[in-house]
Amino acid sequence: MAVEDTGVETTTAGTPQSSELLRRREVHAAAFEATLKEVFLAQGIQLVEPLAKASKETVVYSGRYHGESVAVKIFVPAVEEIEDALSAFGAFKVECEKTMILSRRSPHIVQVMEYGDAELPHDLAEELRDFFPVKLLPFMVTERARFGSLDRVMRATRKTPGLDRMSLLEALCAATEGIHEAHLHHVAHRDIKPQNILVFAPGVAKIADFGIARWRTRRVHRESVLLTPKYASPEQAFYALTGEHEQLVEVRGDVYSWAIMVYELVTGHHPFAWAVTAGAATKEPLGQQRVLLKAISPPTTAAASPPPATSPSIR
Ligand SMILES: Nc1ncnc2c1ncn2[C@@H]1O[C@H](COP(=O)(O)OP(=O)(O)OP(=O)(O)O)[C@@H](O)[C@H]1O
Ligand SMILES: [Mg+2]
Repeated sequence: MAVEDTGVETTTAGTPQSSELLRRREVHAAAFEATLKEVFLAQGIQLVEPLAKASKETVVYSGRYHGESVAVKIFVPAVEEIEDALSAFGAFKVECEKTMILSRRSPHIVQVMEYGDAELPHDLAEELRDFFPVKLLPFMVTERARFGSLDRVMRATRKTPGLDRMSLLEALCAATEGIHEAHLHHVAHRDIKPQNILVFAPGVAKIADFGIARWRTRRVHRESVLLTPKYASPEQAFYALTGEHEQLVEVRGDVYSWAIMVYELVTGHHPFAWAVTAGAATKEPLGQQRVLLKAISPPTTAAASPPPATSPSIR
């Protein structure tokens, strides 16, 4: 099973307490996977293998659908609280619809082929049923990127012919059309990072993972690490730390994150590499966000003046 190493950039995997359900699923991975495969075969979708490490809410598989090579993103929340699962359920459906609509408007956004709900069989054994707090499994079938996500391509030690830095830069430049299209429709991605840019061919990359709505439910439901500090805009980091000024987190944040990505691709370094390292060294769940926010804030704002009395300290 070739699960992609997603590194430390995963949005939700870094939560302080990993869910007990997620742990149980990992222990019984074969039974969990066999159940998923059976359920999806009944939908005419053949799941092959995971494309990435499961997040707390979703798993992504490579697969076959109507003879095409596809990726299947499945909502299988690994949360103990049923209310959390249900609100994230609705938000995942919104993600599917938004991605579908945007993918029809721009070829630079990963193309959605199908989305819907898969049902668990009624005669499923009790112990397997326990893996699924919600009995319906919403899913989204998309075209599959041959080379996977941009971070993986950038980290690869053996370079694929045709995927040199210039070609990746060219791909990223073209993909800006995709984010521009989303912004024209007032949709902010809010999680722009190399893991969410998929590389299809030399010079061709597309934007994936419009988990927009779930981003809000994560904050509401006390997920403390709800963004990827390395690529988060100052206003995103501030909101993540304090829960304040959410209205500031909009399309401009995507432009900021995009610029960080381009900088990293061109120079081979993160613009705030020292803060990334220092933040990681704090070992505190929100440490990286605190250190980075301090590093990127202009002297007149968060870094220089104390935060408002009502908000938790960001230092
Ligand atoms: N269409 C695809 N083709 C190839 N690989 C894909 C595709 N979709 C997703 N992947 C791989 O799976 C990873 C995770 O997918 P995605 O970003 O949609 O979900 P996530 O970030 O794990 O989940 P969540 O939205 O719950 O945070 C991507 O970083 C990429 O490596
Ligand atoms: Mg992602």
